[in-house]
Amino acid sequence: MKAVFVEAYGPYRNAVLKTAQDTAPEEGEVLVRLMAADVNFPDILVMEGKYQVKPPLPFSPGKAGAGIVEAVGDGVTGIGPGDRVAVQVEYGAYAEKVLVPAQTCYRMPDDMPFDIAAALGLVYQTAYFSLMERAAFKPTDTVLVLGASGGVGMASVQLAKALGSPCVIAGARGAANAAFAREAGADHVVDLGMDNLKDGLRDAVKEITGGHGADIVIDPVGGEANAAALRAMAWCGRMVIVGFASGDIPAIRANYLLVKNIGVNGIQWSDYRERDPAAVAAAQEEIFQLWSAGKLDPIITHRVALDDFMTALDVAAGGKVQGKVVLTLAGD
Ligand SMILES: NC(=O)c1ccc[n+]([C@@H]2O[C@H](COP(=O)([O-])OP(=O)(O)OC[C@H]3O[C@@H](n4cnc5c(N)ncnc54)[C@H](OP(=O)(O)O)[C@@H]3O)[C@@H](O)[C@H]2O)c1
Repeated sequence: MKAVFVEAYGPYRNAVLKTAQDTAPEEGEVLVRLMAADVNFPDILVMEGKYQVKPPLPFSPGKAGAGIVEAVGDGVTGIGPGDRVAVQVEYGAYAEKVLVPAQTCYRMPDDMPFDIAAALGLVYQTAYFSLMERAAFKPTDTVLVLGASGGVGMASVQLAKALGSPCVIAGARGAANAAFAREAGADHVVDLGMDNLKDGLRDAVKEITGGHGADIVIDPVGGEANAAALRAMAWCGRMVIVGFASGDIPAIRANYLLVKNIGVNGIQWSDYRERDPAAVAAAQEEIFQLWSAGKLDPIITHRVALDDFMTALDVAAGGKVQGKVVLTLAGD
């Protein structure tokens, strides 16, 4: 089988496509022939040794995908050869075949394309746990999503709407990203590229919400957008720190938290995958059901063949992603 390999930590462009041996599943494992792999910004961080988990070298990057079960190890029940599944792994999904713990292998709907199943992986899981676990989402909440044209942002916009939010406000930079966020399902869009973002975002959100503010902020961006969003929050609002796509880790001004009873929570989604796989499996089932009901529709802007994986990585690394980038394998 072919797989992308990182042989030394450093620039992601040093990664190579190589042929590797198939390995048989051990106890509790499932061998999956992947048809699509999810490409995410954190993959770049992993490849460059800048991520909290550093896989032993050499390794294949990639945290999610979808394909067909080829074989299962001892003790695996409920999944067998021929089943169509989505998978979540710490790394290893930029490959034609991947070994997955059975507990992070999820049956997908019969009519779901593999690339959609892959796209409904990491960013939708992150958005789901950000909203439901970290922000205690209620269907009356107004949700402000920063970086709304990116992967986590698009997923958060769509999930907040699908779960019943009456008002989802997207923060995105520039007209093209604003249009994309609307296409993804946002009710309103605020341009985060505006002058005086600090006052401007608060004023825009207050105007949209009749002075109420955002009950929930989902922030995969950080930097000055985070500081501005904090000022745009409602009383008893909940902010979730998802990432720092701007490259700037914000220092949060605690006086805002005190004055408006605001809670700020972080999320490290992969911890849920390791510590509470049953909750992650239940979330994946709900995400798939919302897709089947027509309430979620991941927008895949780049489908790239495995042989051309560097193009996919360049898009992901460039910070200009709209929606999802997916690697296609085995002719999905
Ligand atoms: N905590 C977790 O468990 C978890 C899980 C997945 C991802 N993440 C992290 O979440 C972040 C986003 O991931 P992603 O997959 O959504 O990345 P992505 O698809 O590349 O999207 C990032 C978005 O951030 C926006 N952005 C970048 N710089 C900005 C700035 N200076 N000001 C405002 N917006 C800016 C961009 O939109 P505009 O051009 O419109 O601004 C872009 O669409 C990354 O840091 C990633 O590592 C964390």
